[in-house]
Amino acid sequence: MHTLAVARAVRGIEPLVAAEIRRAGLGVVRGVRHREVWFETAEPGPELLGLRTADDVLLVAAVVEGIGRDKEALGRLARAARELDAESLTKLALQTGGRGGGGVEVSASFVGRRNYNRFDIEDAVGAELARPLGMPYHSRRDGRVPPEGSTAWRVTVEGGQAVIALRVPVRPLHRRPYKTESIPGTLHPPVAAAMAGLARLERAGTVLDPCCGAGTTLIEARALAPHARLIGFDHDPHAVHVAAANATRAFTSAHAGRSPVTDAIAWGVADAGRIPLPDGSVDRVLVNPPWDRQVAPSGRLRRDPGRLWREIHRVLAVGGTVVALVPEPWQPPGFGVDRVIRLTLSGRHPVVAVLRRSAGRGRAS
Ligand SMILES: C[S@@+](CC[C@H](N)C(=O)[O-])C[C@H]1O[C@@H](n2cnc3c(N)ncnc32)[C@H](O)[C@@H]1O
Repeated sequence: MHTLAVARAVRGIEPLVAAEIRRAGLGVVRGVRHREVWFETAEPGPELLGLRTADDVLLVAAVVEGIGRDKEALGRLARAARELDAESLTKLALQTGGRGGGGVEVSASFVGRRNYNRFDIEDAVGAELARPLGMPYHSRRDGRVPPEGSTAWRVTVEGGQAVIALRVPVRPLHRRPYKTESIPGTLHPPVAAAMAGLARLERAGTVLDPCCGAGTTLIEARALAPHARLIGFDHDPHAVHVAAANATRAFTSAHAGRSPVTDAIAWGVADAGRIPLPDGSVDRVLVNPPWDRQVAPSGRLRRDPGRLWREIHRVLAVGGTVVALVPEPWQPPGFGVDRVIRLTLSGRHPVVAVLRRSAGRGRAS
């Protein structure tokens, strides 16, 4: 029997999530929609939790048509929740994601004006889902927070269609267990994973992030390039400390029971306006430079932000690739543009730019 699943994604990277699903053999992609990739999986297993470019993965329990703007829609949703096989789906999610049975929680969202609110949807559906499972339903109404370990259901309503689905992992996939320490402006891990994928790291020798912050790009890159030499610099010693701590956690949990791989990535304090590496010694750069919004450039970049690109050009081998998250489409001197992907992230619309270093000079004339 096939199970329909949906991977939730940052707006803009849905096709990259679909590609990861196909590459990892997780199922057959049935549709790519706004912030969602629908796919069919023969036997949902723990491999679903390895999906790195997705924000979350859910098993689809019901697709309900005819959901209008009036409160009658709540009765329709409650009926659909009563009729679906919550028990089998919960068992499947438990096998796949190892979630405990601490009750039922529901999180709802909808598009457009309606004569009911999200809590009305959640309570209508949640009570019906909990009953056959013999579990308590934990409402979110009045700011209440469901206890950890509840099975998490999601209802999305768009136009006249509602989807009721059950989250597979204990926490949303984007909340990486390694990332317990952070810095302002830190990168969303699934976007970092998508950037690493775009950099085609399979044949990379040395990969650099000259403004590494909490280390997200390189920690995500290591999953694709365990063979590569990974180097992260930041001008802020606190960021370097955070990156190293996150990496230790990432590679310790991945090697449970064995000694941690603490030297998987080399971290150091350095100014990206003068990168302490020889000319042409780097094959790939992954970078999310300071944009002066959440994080201001410091050191040599404060007066001359363009130095970053001249330094990247200097240390990168000819033909080497940069994948950068920048506020606008951007072509620094000495680079060609391979691809630009616009994202919607925290209410902004930055782009992921894939740049190739050309043989020419990296200086503006
Ligand atoms: C947007 S954050 C990077 C976030 C990072 N990708 C992450 O996942 O946490 C920009 C980083 O650039 C660093 N930075 C600012 N000026 C710098 C400079 N001159 N050299 C190196 N790093 C710099 C900041 O300290 C900050 O950590």
